[in-house]
Amino acid sequence: MPAPYRIAVLASGRGSNLQAILDAITTGRLDAQVAGVFSDRPAAPALERARAARIPAFAAEPRDFGSRDAHEAELFGHVARAEPDLVVCAGYMRLIGAATVEAWTGRMVNIHPSLLPAFKGLHTHRQALQAGVAEHGCSVHYVTAELDGGPVVSQARVPVLPGDDEPALAARVLGREHPLLVATLRLLVSRRVQLGPSGVLLDGEPLAAPLRLDSAGVLHRPDLQPD
Ligand code: GRF
Repeated sequence: MPAPYRIAVLASGRGSNLQAILDAITTGRLDAQVAGVFSDRPAAPALERARAARIPAFAAEPRDFGSRDAHEAELFGHVARAEPDLVVCAGYMRLIGAATVEAWTGRMVNIHPSLLPAFKGLHTHRQALQAGVAEHGCSVHYVTAELDGGPVVSQARVPVLPGDDEPALAARVLGREHPLLVATLRLLVSRRVQLGPSGVLLDGEPLAAPLRLDSAGVLHRPDLQPD
């Protein structure tokens, strides 16, 4: 019997993406286990969700450490001891240092609330509204030293509607983040998706464009879809 696939989740806040992972595991839609939840904020509701699910939860408060590196070493030391196959950044709001990213290359992904490479960083919905785009969405990408710059695995799109404000657009995007994250994790857990030397591989083949989530929550290869 192969050992269960172990996922470590990093979260700084609410934890709704973490909950989507936990619910997918509980309902048998994701064949994995959450080995631990880690945060830079002891009061993060995500940690409460972990404790409620009897999952180890750990927080390290940055101000208790003399430097960013010291804080990161402590937090990722705990992550490493959980022996995860994959680290999922789900609302982890701190920039991860190059050395740590290097150590987890190909084993760390992030969910970001925009259609990367558009609107990196913070306030992505405000950026999208200010840019006047007709379409917005979310992306799951491998983490590299460049903030929100790693190879994109998958995306889900939403329309920007007349009269949209930030909360309305954020809610519409979040509604797609959860199925996108779960569908993408299924491919990562089954090792159908991997990071190769020149980018994302699906079943060993280079992915020319990010997978796209359809309205039923299924991922498709847009590079194989007829226009
Ligand atoms: C999500 O919108 C995610 O894309 C972004 O931070 C938010 C976290 O939400 N990076 P939650 O804590 O998972 O509810």
